[in-house]
Amino acid sequence: MQLLLATTNDGKIRELRKLFEGLDIEVLSLKDLEDKIEVEEDRQTFLENAIKKAKEYALYYNMPVIAEDSGLVIDALNGYPGVYSARFYNIEFGGKFDIEGLSKDEKNIQKVLKLMENERNRSARYVSVVVFYSPEGFGIFSEGVCEGEITDKPIGNMGFGYDPIFKPLGFDRTMAQLTVEEKNKISHRGKAFYKLKEKLTKLFS
Ligand code: IMP
Repeated sequence: MQLLLATTNDGKIRELRKLFEGLDIEVLSLKDLEDKIEVEEDRQTFLENAIKKAKEYALYYNMPVIAEDSGLVIDALNGYPGVYSARFYNIEFGGKFDIEGLSKDEKNIQKVLKLMENERNRSARYVSVVVFYSPEGFGIFSEGVCEGEITDKPIGNMGFGYDPIFKPLGFDRTMAQLTVEEKNKISHRGKAFYKLKEKLTKLFS
């Protein structure tokens, strides 16, 4: 069986591929396909964005798809960056942070740290919604959450995105100090994926 991971994000591809290890499934990502289509993530919730991506890619490529939408939700910032996590540096909320010479991840991190300066409530969570959709019109989804807090400076160089400033609950290391295996065990994406796998196994066994 072939399955398409509907993402071009290297960090997500690395983590999701690891979760498929040992299964008899050929896992492709959008990076493996020459004929590329863009699906805009313009919805207000992770679920709506993930469903939109899964459906459009499954119907276009005529193969089962797993799409994921995720982000960082910070209580003191009224839930931002949320669905804007990937391009937080470039939205009006909190001012634009398009600093030359920095990567998108670094710009996003700098903006969060600036907005969180002197903030005592540092609680936050990563949320991931994973959707499986097959071109025959069958779909299923699951959600995973990883609670944690925002540090006051970036630490670690593994993972991606906001990992250097996100310390999972009960850990004295940031997500960027965990290996892929360690991260998958506790991460929003790992949890959402395991739940999805259980649901699919129950349905098809
Ligand atoms: P999208 O789901 O492709 O819209 O991107 C989600 C964005 O949320 C990423 O670009 C990251 O900025 C952030 N994000 C999602 N999951 C993680 C994670 O596991 N670590 C760090 N940042 C994440």
